[in-house]
Amino acid sequence: MDPYKYRPSSAYNSPFFTTNSGAPVWNNNSSLTVGSRGPVLLEDYHLVEKLANFDRERIPERVVHARGASAKGFFEVTHDISQLTCADFLRSPGVQTPVIVRFSTVIHERGSPETLRDPRGFAVKFYTREGNFDMVGNNFPVFFVRDGMKFPDMVHALKPNPKSHIQENWRIVDFFSHHPESLHMFTFLFDDIGIPQDYRHMEGSGVNTYTLISKTGKAHYVKFHWKPTCGVKSLLEEEAIKIGGSNHSHATQDLYDSIAAGNYPEWKLFIQTIDPDHEDRFDFDPLDVTKTWPEDIIPLQPVGRLVLNKNIDNFFNENEQLAFCPSIVVPGIYYSDDKLLQTRIFSYSDTQRHRLGPNYLQLPANAPKASHHNNHYDGFMNFMHRDEEVDYFPSRYDPVRHAERYPIPSALLKGKREKSIIEKENNFKQPGERYRSFAPDRQERFIRRWIEALSDKRVTYEIRSIWISYWSQADKSLGQKLASRLNMRPSM
Ligand code: HEM
Repeated sequence: MDPYKYRPSSAYNSPFFTTNSGAPVWNNNSSLTVGSRGPVLLEDYHLVEKLANFDRERIPERVVHARGASAKGFFEVTHDISQLTCADFLRSPGVQTPVIVRFSTVIHERGSPETLRDPRGFAVKFYTREGNFDMVGNNFPVFFVRDGMKFPDMVHALKPNPKSHIQENWRIVDFFSHHPESLHMFTFLFDDIGIPQDYRHMEGSGVNTYTLISKTGKAHYVKFHWKPTCGVKSLLEEEAIKIGGSNHSHATQDLYDSIAAGNYPEWKLFIQTIDPDHEDRFDFDPLDVTKTWPEDIIPLQPVGRLVLNKNIDNFFNENEQLAFCPSIVVPGIYYSDDKLLQTRIFSYSDTQRHRLGPNYLQLPANAPKASHHNNHYDGFMNFMHRDEEVDYFPSRYDPVRHAERYPIPSALLKGKREKSIIEKENNFKQPGERYRSFAPDRQERFIRRWIEALSDKRVTYEIRSIWISYWSQADKSLGQKLASRLNMRPSM
């Protein structure tokens, strides 16, 4: 026996049962009792350990995106964008990087149905040679609010009522009636694509604006988009009810079964870029997360493909313990001043230290595959084996040095401290354009969903009027239709 080779791992399973410390277990059926009828002896350490482990099997579920499914595969560069970024994993066509992807719903619990109207998470962890890059996106390209200060309230409004524990429309339309910037997101959520058919048939988007930086330090704002090669498919209400009624894990199953059958899901990655010197040229703020960048002015550029060709081995290790974080980037990709992104940079690792513990990045699914080193260590559940004698920096005994410097955006930041809103809100134009791009039957379904939401008994006249005013500002005829079906006067 090589005592140093042994680690807790199913690769080294013994052919018989043992306790966690490795002692043989000769009876895994009966508790140790006085006589055959009991009482049970507390000294049955194996029984106590078995129950204690079981009692602690669950960890806190994610505050949002609790319900998810993951799979593994690779990302392959198909187009050269090395003039835009010095990111090593994007260095040239043909380069492949291993990934793990987690799809999710947002609002409901870990075991909730996958057929609910809700955005879907689309989070990709790239295990690059320069550390991990997490692209933590959604299936819609915009978001409800543009300032992270509003995120906890927004989530509370969308989550079940704390008294009834039921998701209630009056709370949702009440909260968002204060936030006309949410209209654009609602043209996605209340559209047919508000219930994707499954995870394979939906788009993905980085949503927030990031920055690509070239070797020479030139920065470009960037938005990331995933397009499924098998097309986008959605469920209408009746289909969703039928599917959800017979299998509340249909999307997880679809993903798992497709990969097991060798029918590997694939997405193409596209980017849109804006030169920061041109950011004032638009009638919207490009860093406003409630806006899309019009593709006719800022075209999609192909970058690569994502293929999911391996199912996870263990749901707890590779789904529950997975931790994605928008602040985990690599040289060549940086944040932007997008206020919502700035808040996300803080929130994810904070919740993960709570949800998984301070050493969550040592967990195999989260740890970089590249070599890494620092003097941040110990704490609960540290399982990194270290043998250094120098755990401080700098030291004349330790050759570890700084990594090579890489470029980050060099734009000057200027402004006074303030709590304020952005200048170019432009809340109504893009939602109106999107609604007008729908075919008439699609518009009709969109209107029906709004009538249903606004018909909740607890929605007041005032709230209905505000929504009619908002939708009228996006599209006059939409406002008129809503008003007439709700027996209200159209207003502006
Ligand atoms: C300020 C705004 C936001 C805050 C504070 C926030 C916060 C969070 C938190 C706390 C989690 C749980 C993480 C965990 O426990 O591992 C989470 C998960 C997630 N968020 Fe956000 N979020 C925000 C906006 C967004 C936006 C705009 C997107 C889409 C681009 C997004 C996509 C996701 C995804 C995909 C997950 C699930 C990751 C996974 O699969 O584990 N979030 N978010």
